[in-house]
Amino acid sequence: MIVSLVVAMSTNNAIGKDNQLLWHLPADLKHFKDITSGHTIIMGRKTYESVGKALPNRRNIVITRNTHLKLTGVEVMHSLKEALNSSKEENEVFIIGGAEIFNQSIKLANKIYLTRINESYEADTFFPEIDKNCWLESELEHHLPDEKNALSYSFSTLTSN
Ligand SMILES: NC(=O)c1ccc[n+]([C@@H]2O[C@H](COP(=O)([O-])OP(=O)(O)OC[C@H]3O[C@@H](n4cnc5c(N)ncnc54)[C@H](OP(=O)(O)O)[C@@H]3O)[C@@H](O)[C@H]2O)c1
Repeated sequence: MIVSLVVAMSTNNAIGKDNQLLWHLPADLKHFKDITSGHTIIMGRKTYESVGKALPNRRNIVITRNTHLKLTGVEVMHSLKEALNSSKEENEVFIIGGAEIFNQSIKLANKIYLTRINESYEADTFFPEIDKNCWLESELEHHLPDEKNALSYSFSTLTSN
């Protein structure tokens, strides 16, 4: 099973503030949907609350330490290990954040789907530093702002050495 992280971050590794995303970038939402649709996504409880619902056409797993939590349309699990074990028959599983879950999973991951927003943001949640010795970046695709997307950004894929 390939364990993949999917993240959008700014030049200063910011991913969120006040339990929300820092930007509105429709092209990245489409990119995220294209990558994850039809697959299992694993997220932390705070990211689930930020999204507010199960994402359609995907198996949604939410990780929490709260053993009483019940959510509609979502499988609630109590550790990353439990979530990954429950997905081990799959070819690829997608960990979609947030920072707490990325911090715990980056060492286990084989792949990172990275959207880099070419701005710096004040934030309260950050992606861990990517060690350039451990990851090989490929398929870099640059995009300039357009009528729907006010920011400049790039898509790339990183694979672990
Ligand atoms: N830019 C992006 O790509 C991106 C992607 C996702 C999220 N975000 C942003 O990131 C922020 C949220 O990230 P966050 O770090 O605050 O929270 P998070 O990682 O989404 O969720 C943290 C919660 O997950 C549960 N958890 C964490 N580790 C666990 C473990 N080992 N076992 C069981 N449960 C565990 C706990 O839930 P309980 O407290 O319920 O026990 C914990 O409070 C938001 O601002 C969101 O918008 C950005």
